[in-house]
Amino acid sequence: MFLEKAKSLRGEITVPGDKSISHRAVMFGALSRGRTEVRNFLQGADCLSTIGCFRELGIEIENREDVITIHGRGLDGLSAPSRILDAGNSGTTTRLISGILAAQPFETILTGDASIRKRPMRRIIEPLAMMGADIESMDGNGCAPLKIHGTSLKGIHYLSRVASAQVKSAVLLAGLYAEGETSVTEPVLSRNHSEIMLETFGARIRAEGNTVTISPRPCLEGRKIIVPGDISSAAYFIAAGLLVPDSDILIRNVGINPTRDGILRAARAMGGKITLLNEKHEGEPTADIHVVYSPLQGTVIEGDIIPALIDELPVIAVMAAAAEGTTIIRDAAELKVKESDRIQVVTENLSAMGCDITATDDGMVINGGSPLKGASILSHNDHRIAMSFAIASLIAEGETVIRDRECVTISYPDFYSDLASLCR
Ligand code: S3P
Repeated sequence: MFLEKAKSLRGEITVPGDKSISHRAVMFGALSRGRTEVRNFLQGADCLSTIGCFRELGIEIENREDVITIHGRGLDGLSAPSRILDAGNSGTTTRLISGILAAQPFETILTGDASIRKRPMRRIIEPLAMMGADIESMDGNGCAPLKIHGTSLKGIHYLSRVASAQVKSAVLLAGLYAEGETSVTEPVLSRNHSEIMLETFGARIRAEGNTVTISPRPCLEGRKIIVPGDISSAAYFIAAGLLVPDSDILIRNVGINPTRDGILRAARAMGGKITLLNEKHEGEPTADIHVVYSPLQGTVIEGDIIPALIDELPVIAVMAAAAEGTTIIRDAAELKVKESDRIQVVTENLSAMGCDITATDDGMVINGGSPLKGASILSHNDHRIAMSFAIASLIAEGETVIRDRECVTISYPDFYSDLASLCR
């Protein structure tokens, strides 16, 4: 199957539930007492990996598509798995669950697919080891498979070098079991879904600036959670609506947490006409996002905004390719350690489409405005690359073929049919 130039995008769409929040709902539900019901859960492969791991740890989880029910057994309710835990392609599963497993009275081996086995885990092994954890990278390369020998932990104040919600959350989850308080300070505030949801479940947690502190051994209780739409999935339609002439689309019920809304800020800085409607501010804020076609200009994306749009940078690069003038993306070296090296993979694929783009150590320089041409895109099995280049194909002359396009099942199983439903 190939993708081709679209005349316009029109209509309404509801994107699936937020990936980060869906993972956390299962994990925190498992560690709480009683039933947790999760609506609008993302049925993507990553979140199903989290469900699979917690089932292996003895938690009963019913998945009835519209509602997930987790029969939580409290902080001490996990049991030793009878086999190796498989996190699939999911960095969030691997890193967050490690914080929990580090404190269990049993040993676990945790692994994942070829991509996960290349992703850096020292960033969680080091702080967890400072808490007393015994975690071994079995191949000695700082990556999974990890052998986690559960033990008693002590609270620390961890100064993180990276703004990473996965690192922060791993340490906070270990902190649920530690002796004394645990704090994490990060250079820039990363997504704070763990903080918001842990408090909802009854944890004692306080945030002050870029520091968050958790008290140990709370009594977590099952809750009803409604997952907002994923702004990282909405980002593809935001980009498509802005890029394809004559487009006018409404994306319903999207999470607009300020630690995640960088795509809105960057798109507006590029001249994008985006309006938020029906804003709600209970727990995780949400809104409907109205997008109309807008001629875009280049911009500079750097500094504190980066963690709030880190997963959206591939599709922002596509927007930059179509924008007049130069876009500079800096301070985004983290892109190199995502599901693929997204600096290299975006640069190669946009170059193949005829864009003037240069990779840098911590980002990209994109001289936009030249017409794109269809190309054969190597997704490297990275869902965000496949979706970003499906959007690029809508404004490219000729056919675009995306290799391993089915990798979108990681975060958005119905992506291609949802996109087709808007194309005129
Ligand atoms: C996530 C945090 C981010 C993000 C990832 C999901 C999370 O990763 O890129 O897609 O759910 O905590 P880092 O913590 O590595 O920045």
